[in-house]
Amino acid sequence: MTVVLAASGVRKSFGDFTALDDCSFQLHAGRTLGVVGESGSGKSTLGRIVMRLLTPDAGTVQLAGDDLYAMGASRLRTARRRIQLVPQDPRHALNPAMSVGDNLRFQFAAQRLPRSTWNVRTDELLDQVALSRDYVHAWPYELSGGQAQRVAIARAIAGRPDVLVCDEAVSALDKSVQAQVLNTFADLQRETGVALFFISHDLAVIDHISDDVLVLNRGHTVESGPTRTVLADPQDAYTRELLAARSVVAAA
Ligand SMILES: Nc1ncnc2c1ncn2[C@@H]1O[C@H](COP(=O)(O)OP(=O)(O)O)[C@@H](O)[C@H]1O
Ligand SMILES: [Mg+2]
Repeated sequence: MTVVLAASGVRKSFGDFTALDDCSFQLHAGRTLGVVGESGSGKSTLGRIVMRLLTPDAGTVQLAGDDLYAMGASRLRTARRRIQLVPQDPRHALNPAMSVGDNLRFQFAAQRLPRSTWNVRTDELLDQVALSRDYVHAWPYELSGGQAQRVAIARAIAGRPDVLVCDEAVSALDKSVQAQVLNTFADLQRETGVALFFISHDLAVIDHISDDVLVLNRGHTVESGPTRTVLADPQDAYTRELLAARSVVAAA
């Protein structure tokens, strides 16, 4: 299996506070790595580091085998297209002054997609995120949280990235909507082969979506491996606590 994203020995401190220590993982093409831990455990810090939005103090990050922190400007531009973010709050991702269609077209323009393909691509993306094509004319304020998140996902996959970093991407949604959006992530992964770096504080969400899991506690990796193996027999007390505290993902 191809490794699309890998980190080794990543450390990050803010002043004398260590937010992340000796963190390593591998994410395979077309697979999902769940990153779980309670609030403040370093999940978003790791997410920002793998997107090169924050520089680690030590360790390496590789995107498709290339050192993310050693590339020149032109490689970095390509790398930035290959890894995209789906944030918790889609309102931060969508431009409120643009219709859904214009939000997508803005992305197409940035990626220099030929204008003649925009309409077809818009339909294709809305289908992939299971949103009716009629929504192309809607404004962000007219959308429910789940619909807005679907548009944010469509925007993130517009340039056919290899990796989506999803930082608490379903955490603000109602339970029933959460399950539907998780299923959409799984469907579009099957269709496009995109790998998911899926961050959540909720082990139920991680259990639902992840092939592999990385459990963080105060910046330390307390457990990692195939989700089924880790959750069937958690070796760490913290993982057992998270298991006891997990919510239930509603059947969608
Ligand atoms: N820019 C920053 N400056 C100082 N402290 C930070 C900064 N970013 C994160 N932290 C601290 O690092 C820890 C981990 O934060 P974060 O990665 O956001 O955790 P999580 O996403 O798991 O909730 C927290 O204690 C947070 O307050
Ligand atoms: Mg966070």
